[in-house]
Amino acid sequence: MRLSRYFLPVLKETPSEAQIASHRLMLRAGMIKQQAAGIYSWLPLGYKVLKNIERIVHEEQQRAGHIPILMPTLQSADLWRESGRYDDYGQEMLRITDRHGRDMLYGPTNEEMVTDIFRAHVGSYKDLPLTLYHIQWKFRDEIRPRFGVMRGREFFMKDGYNFDLTREDALHAYNRHLVSYLRTYERMGLQAIPMRADGGPIGGDYTHEFLVLAETGESEVFYDSEITDLKFGDREIDYDSVEACQAVLEEFTSRYARTDETHDEALFNEIPEERRRVARGIEVGQIFYFGTKYSEAMGATVQDSDGNKVPVEMGSHGIGVSRLVGALIEANHDDKGIIWPEGVTPFHCGIVNLKQGDDEADAACETLYKALTAAGLEPLYDDRNERAGGKFATMDLIGLPWRITVGPRGLKNGVVELTSRRTGESEELAPEAAVAKVREIYGV
Ligand SMILES: Nc1ncnc2c1ncn2[C@@H]1O[C@H](COP(=O)(O)OP(=O)(O)OP(=O)(O)O)[C@@H](O)[C@H]1O
Ligand SMILES: [Mg+2]
Repeated sequence: MRLSRYFLPVLKETPSEAQIASHRLMLRAGMIKQQAAGIYSWLPLGYKVLKNIERIVHEEQQRAGHIPILMPTLQSADLWRESGRYDDYGQEMLRITDRHGRDMLYGPTNEEMVTDIFRAHVGSYKDLPLTLYHIQWKFRDEIRPRFGVMRGREFFMKDGYNFDLTREDALHAYNRHLVSYLRTYERMGLQAIPMRADGGPIGGDYTHEFLVLAETGESEVFYDSEITDLKFGDREIDYDSVEACQAVLEEFTSRYARTDETHDEALFNEIPEERRRVARGIEVGQIFYFGTKYSEAMGATVQDSDGNKVPVEMGSHGIGVSRLVGALIEANHDDKGIIWPEGVTPFHCGIVNLKQGDDEADAACETLYKALTAAGLEPLYDDRNERAGGKFATMDLIGLPWRITVGPRGLKNGVVELTSRRTGESEELAPEAAVAKVREIYGV
């Protein structure tokens, strides 16, 4: 993409309504525009990041054997009456009446609808295990939408639902989700710590929230500092292996890590003092085993091998896809702007032409642009007639992890400059070597 042809409405002023860095930077970098409280348009740069996160989530879900579907945003109230949640959900649910007077709602989550799909089409244990998921807009009429996309009213979420014959199988599905989530967040360059969460009326150990540590997080968290040393890395895991998934769960959840909702001071104090940490975190996902809560209420049964009809065992598992855009920025920024991790960056690298209109500089930029594009990378070429300072400020603000700077002076010596946004370190290289280095960074 050439910046002269792109739509990147950056703001010079710091928007006064934004209280936290990610919200400020998303507005300043022209990623989003607010349309109503907690409701945003995604402008090109923001949309690209959102799509990158969505793609990673899809890939990791499918790697774990989970099957994508797409359910609608609007749902019939009758389904929710079956589970009893239509009355329970309260004012967070946006309720709508259609022209025939039928009660509808904008889905805040999809347990009822997916259970309805299941009961219509699945009747035998032979069709299990099954996990269906989708990535779809949700609406929750939050009392206090704030912090931009972090706590929106309309937000993009991955929600997956497992269907299993037995409790043991459903717990394996739970573990499988935990493993796939660890992988998912790490691929985005984020550390999200699974923390024991509040199981609500069902109780038990079978819900974990994933939290990204950040000063601006809404949850207070308590953990053993050893937990931040754990890395999933690029280990290969057999998602069908009960033992392998269980081992990862144990590795990542055996140390103390809880939010204020489940915090136990006595247990916490058993950790050596120098390892006790109290901090804040952003919830970017949650996994939940709830057994037969919905299947019993809604008559979703399967025949077991003895021919008995039994309610199917279920769980639901969410990832806050749009919230992650904000969380990533909270965890990766400095005074000048955003610093995208390579896994989610909207463009792989920026090209800054210091002297637009100079034949040699223009030609060198074109050659770089073509070579990067041919390698399957997406560069953003700042080809505007602007001062170098302005170009650098824009690049720093939008946070591309790598920048190639091209100017007549360097070209005289046969070099361009490759700069890391994160460290600020620069290296002078021949143009071909700069392309090779960027390719190497992205593994293409
Ligand atoms: N209002 C929102 N705006 C953006 N993302 C959200 C919002 N509510 C939930 N999410 C994201 O969707 C994920 C799955 O939804 P879940 O039902 O677990 O949310 P929740 O526990 O109600 O969230 P919270 O406690 O933050 O209100 C959450 O982990 C979070 O990342
Ligand atoms: Mg939650």
